Amino acid sequence: MISKKMEAALNEQVNKEFYSAYMYLAMSAYCNSIGLPGFSHWMRLQYEEENMHVTKMYDYILSQGGQVHLKAITEPPKEYGKPLDIFKKTLEHEQFVTASIHRLMELAIEERDFATQTFLQWYVTEQVEEESNVNDILAPLRMVGEDKGGLMMIDQKLEQRTLATGA
Ligand code: FEO
Repeated sequence: MISKKMEAALNEQVNKEFYSAYMYLAMSAYCNSIGLPGFSHWMRLQYEEENMHVTKMYDYILSQGGQVHLKAITEPPKEYGKPLDIFKKTLEHEQFVTASIHRLMELAIEERDFATQTFLQWYVTEQVEEESNVNDILAPLRMVGEDKGGLMMIDQKLEQRTLATGA
């Protein structure tokens, strides 16, 4: 059982996770269009992870007897600039999602909703990992700058990403 306020807040988060998936799919297409197949692959898997974040929250709302309310998804940009800009935007977006998850946790604490606190802990941990993964890519990107050889090496590394299955 969740409160109506919590139900609304979780539905808002479902929408943000959907937007994340949509944005990473747009980023994947963009990376492909600028000749970075490894970047494109990384973003495609990110899209799949976000879909998993959506369905996990959707399932939780239903399991608590709540109502799912699917709202319109905002159109993401088509272009994301240079390789470094793409990952800067990724980090910015993940920080935005982290802040949103933390606000949800604050609400769960305020409402003494222990079940939702436990549920949200998974997302808190996941956000630490997401930000850390992006920072690990930003560091070499900053180092290579515009160097084409360096960017190709990073592209090959990103191509090796596999989907995390921990749900
Ligand atoms: Fe679902 Fe990347 O946060």
